Amino acid sequence: MIYSRITGTGGYLPDNVVTNKDLEKIVDTTEQWIVERTGIHKRHIAREDEYTCDLAEQAARNALDMAGLSPQDIDLIVVATTTADQVFPSTACLLQARLGIHGPAAFDVQAVCTGFVYALSVADQFIKSGSATKTLVVGAETVSRIIDWTDRNTCVLFGDGAGAVVIEASEEPGIISTHLHADGAFEQLLRVPGGISRGYAQLQEGNAYMEMRGNEVFKMAVTTLGRIVDETLAANDMQKSDIDWLIPHQANIRIINATAKKLQTPMDRVVVTVHEHGNTSAASVPLALDVAVRDGRIQRGETLLMEAFGGGFTWGSVLAKF
Ligand code: UT7
Repeated sequence: MIYSRITGTGGYLPDNVVTNKDLEKIVDTTEQWIVERTGIHKRHIAREDEYTCDLAEQAARNALDMAGLSPQDIDLIVVATTTADQVFPSTACLLQARLGIHGPAAFDVQAVCTGFVYALSVADQFIKSGSATKTLVVGAETVSRIIDWTDRNTCVLFGDGAGAVVIEASEEPGIISTHLHADGAFEQLLRVPGGISRGYAQLQEGNAYMEMRGNEVFKMAVTTLGRIVDETLAANDMQKSDIDWLIPHQANIRIINATAKKLQTPMDRVVVTVHEHGNTSAASVPLALDVAVRDGRIQRGETLLMEAFGGGFTWGSVLAKF
């Protein structure tokens, strides 16, 4: 049996930090409301001339360094993003060129906040089937570009960033199972209504920004993430106590707390980074993973449960031995 083993992790956050106090100056909000309702203290926002691929490159290079690989060793690149630099080429192809890689497949995956979980699952299938051996999987976003900075319902929640992993074929686990879901019926609750096919003109009319019915999304996220935890454990005949680390999507500390409670996991076994960077969409799970690997919390052989929920709706999980 071939497994995909995580051999390197990397993260990158833009230098520019926007605090809750900064946001008090531009919308009708308070630091207290943001912290109490979301757990977010600050977010990193890309400079005007800093794009998703720039963030992806930094995270990817950090992950390659940890894995002890050069870019030329990589035989597949999958980038999860909702905020691509260009209509085409894909951000994965742009990243491939930056890294000086020529030839192997490179493509983007778009599943919004669940993007990294989707991308990791896709890359895992390539490795398991023998179609790839050393894969770079990146979640990278400049969510700030699809935010209406006059809308307090959304602008306080999101930030920019990138996270990456290198996964390699191994006889030892490795990724144990992945679980992906979607239900497009909920488009109205969370979306950017405009898009390329509907024409550039309507994008300029204000359809280019995120719209969210936050409270309804919140309730769906809590119940759906509870279900995906159960599904993942049942599929592997595992108990809640078998999970060493929960690495959740970092959208809101209250959603994270609810999922941890469902898993009966104490909060010191949950990787929380939402206070540092808000919701970075596809970047949030790999950013959290990278932090806990680099600070030594996550050790080799431990069992990790990664999960995410986002626009689509999409949701999913990855169970892995580190
Ligand atoms: O990654 C997946 C995508 N997104 C998410 O997972 C986000 C999911 N949703 C959430 O995290 C939460 O629903 C929010 C943080 C967005 C909102 O928290 P909530 O506890 O669900 O509050 P609410 O939407 O019920 O709003 C409560 C009040 C409202 O005022 P009224 O109607 O009670 O007078 C809002 O207008 O809070 C008001 N409000 C704000 N007040 C100050 C909404 N945004 C703000 C704000 N500052 N930024």
